[in-house]
Amino acid sequence: MDATDVIRTKRDGHRLRDDQIDWVVDAYTRGEVAEEQMAALAMAIFLRGMDHAEIVRWTQAMIDSGETMSFTDLGKPTTDKHSTGGVGDKITLPLAPLVASFGVAVPQLSGRGLGHTGGTLDKLEAIPGWRADVTNEQLIQILRDVGAVICAAGAGLAPADKKLYALRDITSTVDSIPLIASSIMSKKIAEGTSALTLDVKVGSGAFMKDLETARELASTMVCLGRDAGVATVAFLTDMSSPLGRCVGNALEVRESVEVLAGGGPRDVIELTCVLARQMLALVGQPDADVEAALRDGRAMDVWRRMIAAQGGDPDGPLPVAAHTQEVVADRGGVLTRLDALAVGVASWRLGAGRARRQDPVQLAAGIEIHVEPGERVQAGQRLLTLHTDTPERFEGARESLDGGIDVDPDAADRTGARESVFLERIE
Ligand code: URA
Repeated sequence: MDATDVIRTKRDGHRLRDDQIDWVVDAYTRGEVAEEQMAALAMAIFLRGMDHAEIVRWTQAMIDSGETMSFTDLGKPTTDKHSTGGVGDKITLPLAPLVASFGVAVPQLSGRGLGHTGGTLDKLEAIPGWRADVTNEQLIQILRDVGAVICAAGAGLAPADKKLYALRDITSTVDSIPLIASSIMSKKIAEGTSALTLDVKVGSGAFMKDLETARELASTMVCLGRDAGVATVAFLTDMSSPLGRCVGNALEVRESVEVLAGGGPRDVIELTCVLARQMLALVGQPDADVEAALRDGRAMDVWRRMIAAQGGDPDGPLPVAAHTQEVVADRGGVLTRLDALAVGVASWRLGAGRARRQDPVQLAAGIEIHVEPGERVQAGQRLLTLHTDTPERFEGARESLDGGIDVDPDAADRTGARESVFLERIE
């Protein structure tokens, strides 16, 4: 087999044969297919697409590139969720302990942020002492003892995806439905969960900007899951404005703890509870009262044990940025738009995210949101507080907010308000 033949097949708009897919994914993982050849193939797939059978085979080849895990000996069902990523999306933090408080296992193998969307592991590293890396044995032990783990996926899980994702990131080939669907589902299937709830984000702050492409991505992933024996359901949820009132690592941990303490912003509570109900329904608990578990401290109790199990101090002080600056309304009226992408890029520029995989993040950097779309503001009223340790970053962050905030003096109250983050459910 020859990489150039495989590239040419896709470049010319033909479907890849099973043996071509198996060979190219395996040879790339072993370093036999060069990065530039895989870059060309990824671009050909990006431009030409793949049919369903090709996506299924590609996903299986990525699973077969590494180890698979099994939780069958745990003695309790496993249920997992995956979000395609957004701005202020800290839902995994309150969700995993909430669901585990119902006696099921929640293995959340999570990632780091790249670009304007944050990463769950970066957020948790704001907690003093907390470590993302656990061995497979520790993972199983924590699932047994506590019920929830949020940790880095081991190097052995879908290594083809690890290489390919890094390559896609630098070749503008991330936002392709076949490549995203196979990337996400290869990891989830290899991880061995029995049920999966997908949160597919739609809007300016998401990979998928419109409902139609998000729907196609969600259906593709639901089919891949079902075909692999994983009970899978997807929700399409709004990401046109940020989720909650905090964006940035330590700030998002603070907001998650508020939710676990029975408070927090309405949209974060709504999304946490709807996803929790779905995750539990998929493993036979359709009537779980998840709101009660937030109110009465059961979810908080699991959170504290989950953080401590990975070396973290749940009472430890979260880092606070050395510098803050306020963004105020330039006129009175209704805040009709707070654009998720603009806020995400601003937070990233403040230091909350990384430009290259090896870059460090500033744990305290980010943005606090004081006013939500639909609310009325006075001229000069505080809309956002920017946080950073490096004040030279304020200017770039403010530039990225230009055009992302609309205050309309003539708009009626509630114009632009988001009544619910839920758009559709796909199963
Ligand atoms: N998340 C992933 O794991 N893979 C993608 O391709 C996109 C988002």
